[in-house]
Amino acid sequence: MKLNIAVLAGDGIGPEIAEQGVKVMRAISEKFKHEVAYTYAVCGADAIDKVGDPFPEATYQVCKAADAVLFSAVGDPKFDNNPTATVRPEQGLLAMRKKLGLFANIRPIQTFKCLLHKSPLRMELVEKADFVCIRELTGGMYFGEKYQDNDKAYDTNYYTRSEIERILKVAFAYARKRNNHLTVVDKANVLASSRLWRQIAQEMAPLYPDVTTDYMYVDNAAMRMIQDPAFFDVLVTENTFGDILTDEASCITGSMGLLPSASTGDSTPVFEPIHGSWPQAKGKNIANPLAQILSVAMLFEHFNLNEEGELIRQAVDASLDAEVRTPEIQVEGGKSFGTKEVGEWIVKYILTK
Ligand code: IPM
Ligand code: MG
Repeated sequence: MKLNIAVLAGDGIGPEIAEQGVKVMRAISEKFKHEVAYTYAVCGADAIDKVGDPFPEATYQVCKAADAVLFSAVGDPKFDNNPTATVRPEQGLLAMRKKLGLFANIRPIQTFKCLLHKSPLRMELVEKADFVCIRELTGGMYFGEKYQDNDKAYDTNYYTRSEIERILKVAFAYARKRNNHLTVVDKANVLASSRLWRQIAQEMAPLYPDVTTDYMYVDNAAMRMIQDPAFFDVLVTENTFGDILTDEASCITGSMGLLPSASTGDSTPVFEPIHGSWPQAKGKNIANPLAQILSVAMLFEHFNLNEEGELIRQAVDASLDAEVRTPEIQVEGGKSFGTKEVGEWIVKYILTK
């Protein structure tokens, strides 16, 4: 297969993990004889510094022309500590989502047997956790009308029927591919936007009689995720709730450095780790590249290249079993490996398989 990949490495640890992701893509392409071209483009704080815009038009054009985007991370503390900054790296991410119409964010929460002890939850709770969060990504408060002056401020949680229907369709389809259980998470006891979500979900549920659909308030879902994560199979929710719940969900596995995600919609899909840019670790060769590498697996699987995805997953599992791990997940007393070394080990594994 011929693939044209846009690589947006961004800020902090972004470039280091992007490099490992690309290395793994090259190895897979060599092995399975795919022709992959890579085009690098700037985004985030890096793009603000270089061209004054966190998602410049040139980057958008590169993304639009690509078959998929491999994205790493954006964010820099020099903007976080300045509430008056008018351009921020995160705006680049939001602009990318909006311009590429990436309304469906898929975040699988999967545990790794050898890392169960790293979870803050008891082992018997975590070991059965295996679910997918589907977060609406281009609507709600993140994009609704905003206002701010010195005395008042608001954000509008605006959703239209078509925005809700299209994300619910993705969610029902996912439930069908998995264990036919969909949980619609909202705050319908308080919010009008949530009531519309629930109404539309209830209208659609009879079209998917093989899927068990249930409804849960977001506060309750936050609790259930910790008390009984195995309850969930596919969870769907609006943008803001999804942002919060997926950070919570990512802790279940024991390290945020392990979870990939896919964002799909109208145009080029984007594959990225769910963690951020971890600026304190920049250039230190200590960041875990596995979430980025697993994003590459999701990228191949998106194009139905399932064997390729499977080999990456197998290589990641093997690296964990061989204790070729970055410091935050290394076993006690074990020697830690760098970002690069983990990437290289995985590449070797793939090429010798
Ligand atoms: C995420 C991130 C982003 C979000 C930030 C960086 C804007 O937290 O992808 O979850 O809130 O969507
Ligand atoms: Mg988030």
